[in-house]
Amino acid sequence: MKLTIRLVGAIWLSVLIVIGGFAFLQIREERERLVDDLKRRAVLVGEGLKEAIEPQVARDSTAGVERILKKFGTARRGIAVYDRFAGLMVATPDIAPSLPPSLPEVTDAVANDVVSQGFRVVGVRRAYVYATPLTRDDRAVGALVVILDAAHLEGAAWNLWWSNALRFLALALVVSLIALVVVRSSVTQPMAKMSEWTKSLRAGRYVPPPDVPDANVFGPLAREVAGLARSMQRARAAAEQEAALRLVGESIWTEERLKQFVNLRLAGRPLVVVSNREPVSHVRKGGRIQTLTPASGLVTAMDPMMRACGGVWVAHGSGDADRETADARGRLGVPEDDPRYTLRRVWLTKEEEHGYYYGFANEGLWPLCHIVHTRPVFRPDDWAHYLAANRTFAETLLDEIRDAEEPLVLIQDYHFAPLPALIKAERPDARVAIFWHIPWPNSEAFAICPWQPELLAGMLGADLVGFHTQYYCNNFLETVDRTLETRIDWERFTVTRGERVTAVKPFPISVAPGFVDDPPQRTREELLRELGVSAEFLGVGVERVDYTKGLPERFRALRWFFERYPEYRGRVVFVQLAAPSRSTIKRYAELALEVEQTVREVNEALGTVSWRPILYLARHHEHREIWSYYRHADFCMVTSLHDGMNLVAKEFVSVRDDEDGVLILSRFAGASQELRDALIINPYDLAGAAEAIRTALEMPKEERHARMTRMRYVVSEHNIYRWAGLLLSELSRIPVETPGVKTS
Ligand code: F6P
Repeated sequence: MKLTIRLVGAIWLSVLIVIGGFAFLQIREERERLVDDLKRRAVLVGEGLKEAIEPQVARDSTAGVERILKKFGTARRGIAVYDRFAGLMVATPDIAPSLPPSLPEVTDAVANDVVSQGFRVVGVRRAYVYATPLTRDDRAVGALVVILDAAHLEGAAWNLWWSNALRFLALALVVSLIALVVVRSSVTQPMAKMSEWTKSLRAGRYVPPPDVPDANVFGPLAREVAGLARSMQRARAAAEQEAALRLVGESIWTEERLKQFVNLRLAGRPLVVVSNREPVSHVRKGGRIQTLTPASGLVTAMDPMMRACGGVWVAHGSGDADRETADARGRLGVPEDDPRYTLRRVWLTKEEEHGYYYGFANEGLWPLCHIVHTRPVFRPDDWAHYLAANRTFAETLLDEIRDAEEPLVLIQDYHFAPLPALIKAERPDARVAIFWHIPWPNSEAFAICPWQPELLAGMLGADLVGFHTQYYCNNFLETVDRTLETRIDWERFTVTRGERVTAVKPFPISVAPGFVDDPPQRTREELLRELGVSAEFLGVGVERVDYTKGLPERFRALRWFFERYPEYRGRVVFVQLAAPSRSTIKRYAELALEVEQTVREVNEALGTVSWRPILYLARHHEHREIWSYYRHADFCMVTSLHDGMNLVAKEFVSVRDDEDGVLILSRFAGASQELRDALIINPYDLAGAAEAIRTALEMPKEERHARMTRMRYVVSEHNIYRWAGLLLSELSRIPVETPGVKTS
């Protein structure tokens, strides 16, 4: 209310100043015009009569003067003639009674022989007096006076003031009304909505920010408040979780516990993570910059860890709006609304990215490490780019740790095999780990790579090499054994090369307990309605379009299922969320076509007018969108032909706080070793996979519940905080390397 009063007051004052100023000028101009008009008329009459009257006055002919005056005098124009002593001789009848015996203008004209004029009250009216001397032989013989009524001057001024006052009132009212409407719709109502919203947040209920008309005004505020609310909610959830864990006497790793651990164990030593994929990318869409969370298991796992630990994450800035959203050094806080760690972006040219990422990493190492019968391609040019990109990342990383003592460096994945050695060569005091997120094949398979020794030598620059499973560790150790001159301790799982000792250990990666903060409140009915389907059972798959994921196999298994069990036709819909991936690589482009073709075939063969068995959604989906699919699906299919871990399986389990839903999981995914209560399948066995779908649909509720409860226990216990805690603990225990001194 106060705001409205202030605003309306300000509007009235401004209008008053503007209109008042204009009125003042207008009145002044009008007055000058009217006075000029009076003067002109007085001069015309006075100077016109002067010649005729002068001889009469000189002769003292009062009758002669009277005759002339009678002719020219009117009610509003009095004329008078004064003698040489400034005494009234004759005046027109209308003015005569009101004329004073002497007039200063007359005295002035007679005495000084000049024209004298001015305003004066004559009788009761205001008049303009014009006195011109009458002369004879250069001698003043009297004065002729023209007296014009000037009362209309006041009237004109009042009229102008009055019309301007009305204008002021009208303008002030209209502007105030418009301002009130604008204030109401753009300020008062949005403020009311914002305050309702903040009240809900304070009460611990997360509601998305209201739609407010002016995002420029309220957007930043909404972002700040949402960030604040999220922090409060996180703190509240962490406290509740800690309290609950204390009650049951368990010591599960939580975000809070990892924070404490980092504070105590690392004691201020900085942590730097390096990966190719960045946790957030900025892309231009429809003229606006969008923030995307890339479809990457690595990001799903590492982002919560970094939020807990803080530090710097060095990654390739691959978004087309990444430069604009970072500072001059490529740095920005993540998450943007409540920064918990720093992202340092590395810039690569298109050519470098092509050779290093698409070429060597994804046409060479990716198929080399995944046994899926896609032939790896190794080109010398790609290798050169791979080495060059590793050097670029090394420079950035070294820049980040320049002033840090004994920093901890966690290198992620197959994009950076040479990087550990590059870092250690410059900073022997740094503790360096490399975690390989994909499988490590047997030594014969890996030997295909022409640069096998260089890759292994680079990795053995690290103090710690991590894989998801012991099986991959063993494959790695065997590969090293057959390739390089080293000593391998099969009891302690270490490799000694020269003076360097590298530990090789399994750390099965996982997810954070909550897949998203404040999950959306979308019900199953809403989800189906939005998809435009009606189904009794909902199946879901969430993947990048990658040949390791067994997508064609999955859809053929679904076909097999519907053919074998036709009673489920029309009742089950399978939704596949398919994120486009590495699509400039020929094999991936072919795969995308193959997958779409397979979906089409299944839908054409089995679908009806009102039912499509497979809904294929080929686009990027943010975690918040995916959450609803996980949460409402009756079953989730993970049919990887080979997969280091597969975090989709763990994400699905972590979202199912209703303890329901069935996971169908490939035995070739690392996750199958931990999630024993999934329906484990061989994705190449279509009949077996189809049978698993039927089992999932017909599984009694109690069994679903029991299996999901056990899987949830595994995922909540072996979560990403534990993964990070164990890895950092192992790494920080490694003694400082003193050149020339052997460590055991
Ligand atoms: O497992 C390897 C990996 O880097 C994963 O961490 C991630 O899910 C996936 O590949 C993403 O691939 P890209 O970063 O090439 O899109």
